[in-house]
Amino acid sequence: MEELKDIEALLVEERTFTPPEEFVERANITDPGIYEEARRDPERFWANFAQELEWFRPWKKVLEWNPPYAKWFVGGKLNISYNCLDRHVKGPRKNKAAIIWEGEPGDTRTLTYFELYREVNKFANVLKKLGVKKGDRVAIYLPMIPELPIAMLACARIGAPHSVVFSAFSSKALQERTEDSKAKLLITADGYYRGGKVEQLKERADEAAAACPSIEKVVVVKRIGREVPMQKGRDFWWDELMRDAPAYCEPEQMDSEDMLYILYTSGTTGKPKGVVHTTGGYLVGVYATMKWIFDIKEEDTFWCTADIGWVTGHSYIVYGPLAVGTTSLIYESVPNYPQPDRFWEIVEKYSVNIFYTAPTAIRAFTRDGEEWPNKHDLSSLRLLGSVGEPINPEAWMWYHRVIGKERCPIVDTWWQTETGMILISPLPGITRTKPGSATFPFPGVEAEIVDKDGRPVPPGRGGYLAIMRPWPAMLRTIYGDPARYEKYWNQVPGIYFTGDGAKKDEDGYFWIVGRIDDVINVSGHRLSTMEVESALVEHPAVVEAAAVGKSHPLKGQALTAFVILAPGYEESPALVQELRNKVAEVIGPIAKPDEIIFVPDLPKTRSGKIMRRILKDLAERRELGDTTTLRDPAIVDEIRKKMGY
Ligand code: WT7
Repeated sequence: MEELKDIEALLVEERTFTPPEEFVERANITDPGIYEEARRDPERFWANFAQELEWFRPWKKVLEWNPPYAKWFVGGKLNISYNCLDRHVKGPRKNKAAIIWEGEPGDTRTLTYFELYREVNKFANVLKKLGVKKGDRVAIYLPMIPELPIAMLACARIGAPHSVVFSAFSSKALQERTEDSKAKLLITADGYYRGGKVEQLKERADEAAAACPSIEKVVVVKRIGREVPMQKGRDFWWDELMRDAPAYCEPEQMDSEDMLYILYTSGTTGKPKGVVHTTGGYLVGVYATMKWIFDIKEEDTFWCTADIGWVTGHSYIVYGPLAVGTTSLIYESVPNYPQPDRFWEIVEKYSVNIFYTAPTAIRAFTRDGEEWPNKHDLSSLRLLGSVGEPINPEAWMWYHRVIGKERCPIVDTWWQTETGMILISPLPGITRTKPGSATFPFPGVEAEIVDKDGRPVPPGRGGYLAIMRPWPAMLRTIYGDPARYEKYWNQVPGIYFTGDGAKKDEDGYFWIVGRIDDVINVSGHRLSTMEVESALVEHPAVVEAAAVGKSHPLKGQALTAFVILAPGYEESPALVQELRNKVAEVIGPIAKPDEIIFVPDLPKTRSGKIMRRILKDLAERRELGDTTTLRDPAIVDEIRKKMGY
C-alpha cells in the first residue's frame, strides 16, 4: 500500500532521554527484567495485578481464548464501584480527596472517597427506584461535573451498563447512540459552561429523548440553575431524587465478563460502533497501567484533561485513578478560558503532580507562547503524559522543556477506545524515551508491525500495527453487531488489526503514524469520514460528498469535503456555512469541515470507486499520485485548478 511507503519515509528522531535519577529512585517499577518475566508468563503477570484487587469470588482461569472471543478471570465475581470506593473507605483513604473538581467560572468541589461513596450509593438507589435493573442500559449525557462519575459508578454498582455520550455531541448523535443501546433512562443536565457561554444541554437531550421510545425517564442535574422544560412524569431533578435516597446500596456481584459499559466510537462506516467493555479484565488493565505508567504515589494529584465522554476519561479520569485510590482532578471546560493560562493556573492551584493531555492541546500552548506557563509555579509536576494522536517531536520537546522543566519524564501513550487501556507506552522509571515515539508495548502486551498476512516486517519498514494476543481490557464485542467485532480479527485469524500504520526502528521503538483507514483524528477526536459524508448528503443541495483528512498544524488533522451540488444550487459562502452547520447538527461542532470544495465530479475508478488517495493529495495541495486508473483523469486537473495550485 502507498500509505505504508509514506510511513517508511518518516524521519526517526535521534535524541534520547533517560529517566532522571530522582525519578527512578522513587519509581514504582524500575526493573527492566519485568518485560521478560511478563513475556514468559503473561497470564501470571496479569493475575498478580488482579490479586491486588477485591473479588467476591476468585476466578478459576485467567484467560479463555477462543479466537476472536476472550474471557478474562473466568468465574470471578466482583464489582468495580466496590473496588473504586468501598475498598478505600475501609482504610486510611476514607477522607482522602477522590475527586477535586473545578468549574469554568471558578467554583470548586472536593469529594473525599467517603463522600463519593455516599453519593454513588444514594444514586444507585435512585436508579433502582426509577426501575433500572441489572443489565438495563443507561444513557449519560452530562458535562464535566462530579455527577458524571457519580452516575457511572452508580450504574456499575447495580450492574447497569452505561453509555456515556460526549456532551458536545448533537442531539442527533445522542439519538442514534441511544436507539442502538436502547437505554431506558437518560441522565443529563440543565446546561454547562463553555468559554463563558451556557450550553443548552437539556433542550438537546429532549430532542433525542422524544425520538427514542426506549427512554422512559430522564434525570436532570442542576448545573446552571436555569429554567428548562421538564416533562411531567418523565423528567426528575437529580437533587430532589437524592434528598431521600437511602445511604447504602449493596453492590451487585458481577461476573468478571458482565458488561460494564458501551462507548460509541467512529469506524469506517457511517454508523458509530458500540464498543463493549466488561468488568474484571477492564479493571485489571486500567489498574495496572495506572500504577506503572503514571507511577502513582499516595500523595499525588493526578490530572487527565480529557473529557469523560471519551475513553480516555472513562479509563484515566474515573476507573483507573479511583481503582488505585489516587486524587483525580476534573476541570469543566477549555484550556484557554478566560485566558491561555487556565491549565497552568489549575496545576499551580492544586499542586498537580501528574499531568496527562493531548498533542493538539500542547501544539496550541506552543502557539500561545511560553509566557503563559511561565507565569505559574509548575514545580509540583513530576510526570507528563500525552495521548490521542502522534505527538510531533517539536511539541514533545516544548512539553519537556517549558512544562516539565527538563526534569519530568514524558509518557506518550498509545491506545484506542477498543483497547480500553494503554497498550504502548514508556515505563517512566525504566524507558529511555525518544521524542515522538510511544516506545514499547506494556509488559504482557505483544504488539507488532506486520504486513497484510500478519508477518512481522523488518525494522524501518512501514506496516500495520497489530496486537498479537488478547489483553485484559480488550473490547469483547460491538454491541448488537458481533460481525463488526470479528472484523478486527479477520484479516489474519487471531491477530487484532488496530487500523493504525506504524514502524519500528532499529532499537525496537514503535513509531505510530496514525490511521490508515477512513477514520480521522481531529484535535484528538475520532471521526469517520463516512459519517461526515452522510451528514452532508442529508442536505438537499448535496448529491454526493467525499471527506478526507488533511494535516493541520494545530488539530493534527482537519477535514476537507468535496461536494457535488444538485441541479439548481449555486456555490456560495452562505451555502458553505449551511453545509458546515448541517454537519454540526448531525454530529457535533467538532466534525465541521474546515474546507468545502464544490466539484463537478469526484475522481473515480472505472468501477465507480472514489479514489480517496487522490482526494487526500488534492486536500494537501501536493503533487498527485498516479491518476491513470481513473475513469476520467481530466476531472482531477479541473479540481486542482479550481483549488488554485
Ligand atoms: C486512535 C484511537 C486512546 C485514547 C484516545 C483516542 C490514535 C491514540 C496515540 C498515540 C499515536 C495515537 C491512533 C488510534 N492514537 N494515541 N500516543 N500516538 N496515535 O482513542 O478515539 O479510540 O482513537 O488514536 O490512531 O488508533 P480513540
